[in-house]
Amino acid sequence: MIIRTEEGGTPIFVLKTKNTAYAFMITPTGHPEHLYYGVSFEAGGKFPLGALVQKRTFAPGNTVVYSQDYPAMAMEDMCLEFSSFGKGDLREPFVEIVHSDGGRTCDFTFESARITDEKEPYEDLPGSYSADGKAEQLTVVYVDRQYSVTLETRYYVWEDCDCICRSSRVINSGRDELELDRLMSLQLDLQDGPYAVTTFHGAWAREMEKSTAVLTGGKLVNSSFAGCSSSRSNPFFMVHSPDASESAGDCYAFNLIYSGNHYGAVEVNSYGKTRIVSGINPQGFRFMIPPGECIEAPECVMTYTRGGFSGITGNMHSFVREHIVRGVWKDKPRPILLNSWEAMYFKIDQGSLISLAKAAARVGIELFVVDDGWFLGRNDDSHALGDWIPDPKKLPGGLESLGRKVRELGLSFGIWVEPEMVNAQSELYRAHPDWAMTVPGKPHSEGRNQMLLDLANPDVQDYLIDVLSGLFADAGISYVKWDFNRVFSDVYSPYLPAKRQGETAHRYVCGLYRVMRELTERFPDILFEGCASGGNRFDLGILSFFPQIWASDNTDAVSRVHIQEGYSFGYPLSTVGAHVSACPNHQTLREVPPDTRFNVAAFGILGYEYDIRDLSAKDRKEMQRQTSLYKEWRDVLQFGKFHRGRSGNVHEWTCVSPDRKRAVGMLFRELALPNAPGERFFAKGLDPKMEYRFYCISQDVDVRQFGSLINTRSPIHVRQGSLVHSAIAKAVRMHGETEDETVSGEVLMNAGIQLSQAFSGTGFAEGMRFFPDFSSRLYFMEAVGCIAPGTGEREPQIAGETVSGEARDESPGTNAGELDEISDETGPEE
Ligand code: DGJ
Repeated sequence: MIIRTEEGGTPIFVLKTKNTAYAFMITPTGHPEHLYYGVSFEAGGKFPLGALVQKRTFAPGNTVVYSQDYPAMAMEDMCLEFSSFGKGDLREPFVEIVHSDGGRTCDFTFESARITDEKEPYEDLPGSYSADGKAEQLTVVYVDRQYSVTLETRYYVWEDCDCICRSSRVINSGRDELELDRLMSLQLDLQDGPYAVTTFHGAWAREMEKSTAVLTGGKLVNSSFAGCSSSRSNPFFMVHSPDASESAGDCYAFNLIYSGNHYGAVEVNSYGKTRIVSGINPQGFRFMIPPGECIEAPECVMTYTRGGFSGITGNMHSFVREHIVRGVWKDKPRPILLNSWEAMYFKIDQGSLISLAKAAARVGIELFVVDDGWFLGRNDDSHALGDWIPDPKKLPGGLESLGRKVRELGLSFGIWVEPEMVNAQSELYRAHPDWAMTVPGKPHSEGRNQMLLDLANPDVQDYLIDVLSGLFADAGISYVKWDFNRVFSDVYSPYLPAKRQGETAHRYVCGLYRVMRELTERFPDILFEGCASGGNRFDLGILSFFPQIWASDNTDAVSRVHIQEGYSFGYPLSTVGAHVSACPNHQTLREVPPDTRFNVAAFGILGYEYDIRDLSAKDRKEMQRQTSLYKEWRDVLQFGKFHRGRSGNVHEWTCVSPDRKRAVGMLFRELALPNAPGERFFAKGLDPKMEYRFYCISQDVDVRQFGSLINTRSPIHVRQGSLVHSAIAKAVRMHGETEDETVSGEVLMNAGIQLSQAFSGTGFAEGMRFFPDFSSRLYFMEAVGCIAPGTGEREPQIAGETVSGEARDESPGTNAGELDEISDETGPEE
């Protein structure tokens, strides 16, 4: 809800969401003073201005006084909705302009405000939306009367998820061209502190490492100058009380709906005020605005909660799901895919791809994806980017015939592309060297042997739209992985004149959005997955077009626990691509048990990415078990509410269906501890008054995993790795633990559930929990009734409906019966 009110002639604006309120007023000088952002309050009809506005009788210390008419007003000590350069506020400016007279001082003051129930459309940038087209928007217009420049600040209120988006526009209403050096999207000034700032940094294969610093003075910058939002610093960040935890504490969070160079700064000034800004990175940015024209800044979403990091996660996940991700795939179950990359890399051809697809079809995979290497002359990463023609040597019938054969196997078919790039060794570059982003006549630097195409150039955009439309239509493509494998260098658009080169990086992003918009509109049924060497462009701009993003090129499950947990703070599981890959892993050479590789990838959009033609019959059966299990729980895992539990040597995750009747938990332990056999699992997000059946899928343990300990049981001496050892492993079935309890949600969440003892130096016995390094378990929770108020007795029926909505096998090993039916086809022995 957006309210405009007045107290003693002072205009006041109040933005309310389900649980929060945000307020600012216009000072007598016409400046927007921020009053409050926090837990919502009922003002009983009268706005509590006297309580919220900062009292001023004198300007402190040696601050600059804004005007002699207002001797107590020093911008340096004010909380403002935006601040410009030059009138005494020494903190991060919101906007920086170089006027035609060379001056940089700006002074925007209030002109008007309008409240609408529809979003005014954006020209070039994506933004938040709602399915019914309704959105409350407040636009406040300010004018710099000395120079005829207009600044609009916009607010969009998303009550359902406690989020408010902000953006801004600068309009040149004067007669001279205007040079804009900075335009932020959001500014929030908080009076209390100190706050801690949590940001997410990393690198290729090491994305989303969480970093927290308490800021008592100075500035912390979270930015990217890579041309993309980058794995170096994700645009999502949190500002919170230093003692905030998962479950409690004041927390604010911010994320920019933008895929290019971003800038987030948190600054504490001399008066203990904390300023937060977020927007396009001003480094290298300069925009020339002709008279009558304007530039818009991307939207930035912010949220507040007193409920700690889990509160932030809940709000941000709902926001991304409801107000960012759109189109056919928004709520549609995503298929389990098999990707050819880590299976075959560049060594692909029709025969091997079809045999891989056949193997995929046999284990329940639904989508087959041909990654890099399918186009003419692409045998390594030095050639052919830009030439999107199938290589007849590898694919004699082209993508069309490959796609048809894949579909005949009952799979859908997808391809990899990297449209924004060109290799010097390509037909495209030979024909259009001026389409590459290089400084003409100067040597350029390459990343992965490739250059960026100049997407600031509309001809390049048109070319990409045409060539990709042809490709997607001809081959009957249902899925596209859109890659982007280098960061920016030699930033220069041969298309733009010299004085507009400061616009190149931003125009590139707008050009990219145009191409993405056009293609997603032309091909609404295609499932697009963003990718940038993994997570080098994981942001809300991409998610406004593509519903999911390949989160990291690191497929090692142990690394992925950290990476995916990092993403989980700001992004829902339905956006995070996660694959099971070969062992030892190709990025870390780590050996991780197969169930952990699956369990971690299941907390994301599941795929596989290795040569499954080589699987033994036993492993194939295991994979079939995994895919059917995932299909059974996919609605919960992809669209349930995700909760983090403990995070350290043990990581605990729970995903709960929207009606809280079904949940999947995972307990992962990085390193085994000697003589520590006890463990509990704590669920989160359940209905406290609901009774749940809590169970795991019991699995047999291969006795070889106990090594020479077998000799403590065996009547004869068994040499490790010997044929006798293998024969015993085949003959002896050693049952792992069974967990099967019926218990209330409140017990599961507060007391946790005691798990079977783990082998821990002792306990080599049937029924123990085999839990060495990198082990994990999935736990399933299904509502079986409610606890009757007062009596504590269980009521078996939940409001007259069947408990799980559909008939289910109630045995702990839900899939055991199913497994027996899977034919034990011969395959290579382990
Ligand atoms: C980087 C991606 O992240 C990988 O998954 C793979 O698609 C390669 N590029 C292909 O070149």
